[in-house]
Amino acid sequence: MASTATGEEVPNKRVVLKYYVTGFPSADAMEVLTGTASLAVPPGSSVMVVKNLYISCDPYMRDRMTKHERPSYVPEFVLGETLVNFGVCKVIASGHSDYKVGDLVWGVTGWEEYTLVTEPESFFKIHHPELPLSYYTGVLGMPGLTAWAGFFQVGKPKKGEYVFVSAASGAVGQLVGQLAKLTGCYVVGSAGSDEKVNLLKNKFGFDEAFNYKKEADLDATLRRYFPEGIDIYFESVGGPTLEAVLENMRPHGRIPACGMISQYNLEEKHGVRNIFQVVAKRLRMEGLLVFDYYSDYYKFEEEMAGYLKEGKISYVEDIAEGLEEAPAALIGLFTGRNVGKQLVAVARE
Ligand SMILES: NC(=O)c1ccc[n+]([C@@H]2O[C@H](COP(=O)([O-])OP(=O)(O)OC[C@H]3O[C@@H](n4cnc5c(N)ncnc54)[C@H](OP(=O)(O)O)[C@@H]3O)[C@@H](O)[C@H]2O)c1
Repeated sequence: MASTATGEEVPNKRVVLKYYVTGFPSADAMEVLTGTASLAVPPGSSVMVVKNLYISCDPYMRDRMTKHERPSYVPEFVLGETLVNFGVCKVIASGHSDYKVGDLVWGVTGWEEYTLVTEPESFFKIHHPELPLSYYTGVLGMPGLTAWAGFFQVGKPKKGEYVFVSAASGAVGQLVGQLAKLTGCYVVGSAGSDEKVNLLKNKFGFDEAFNYKKEADLDATLRRYFPEGIDIYFESVGGPTLEAVLENMRPHGRIPACGMISQYNLEEKHGVRNIFQVVAKRLRMEGLLVFDYYSDYYKFEEEMAGYLKEGKISYVEDIAEGLEEAPAALIGLFTGRNVGKQLVAVARE
């Protein structure tokens, strides 16, 4: 039975975009405002009101901060309106028969304290509240599904294969590497600091890892770590990294193309000069967007929750406290400030 709260109005802090961004973004492009929110749902409607507990910072949001001449794969944010992205929420009023007050859910919500959700059916229910709820912005949420679907369904790994993961200590990368180890692959990761390299080797169980900022010749570095070549490159970075990887792929290798973060802030993108290697080595480079795998979400949730409980997967997150910290936390993704999955705690329960 759906239920509604009283028509109470409460203060509602929210984060908005002030201006469209070109080049490297600054936290200044966003501001935190305080308005009000109604905690009631209109009688007879099927919307719900949620309290946002954790919101996620994800690299693709950068694309939404730019005004596009041609439509992009995600629409740009509207200036002055509350930013939206994945979050973990508690239902506090509902006109929808599938959701009741107190339910824990995750889905696309506002960067604010309370959000009126007009499409409750786009949300997922949380089946493992005994695990930290923040995990539903990462290992049990969108980035986790991305890693799992991208590695298994696009990468199609086989035991004993050679796997390279870039942005390897981040939300997606740390999981890809561990899933590859569980599959019996040899895994090397790259990351942008010695602290992150240490995590890869000593917490996530990568066979090898290196700090790409210290490597002058990435092609030679990859040759050193993969004398027999790479079967699967889980691509999150693009640019010169992709160029070096293409030289080191084995024939019939696979490249799940998940992201290219090194390119997101460039006005002039890096041209990958050796793309012919895709032909010569009969490579399969396939783009993936997590939305295409939503129908597998609950299967994934059960599998990943099992790994976490059995201690087969470790997980590191970087939690900023409060909406005031959200702009800097988001921008930090592009300087590598985050160690593990970046998210913001809006309200802790
Ligand atoms: N296709 C999809 O559906 C989907 C879904 C989720 C994520 N993604 C993509 O997956 C990738 C990883 O996302 P995530 O959420 O896991 O982020 P993340 O790895 O947790 O954070 C981003 C990391 O990227 C690295 N980075 C930033 N600028 C870089 C540069 N210029 N060159 C190399 N590395 C750079 C930084 O780590 P270092 O310190 O190691 O440099 C930073 O910590 C991104 O490309 C994202 O767009 C795609």
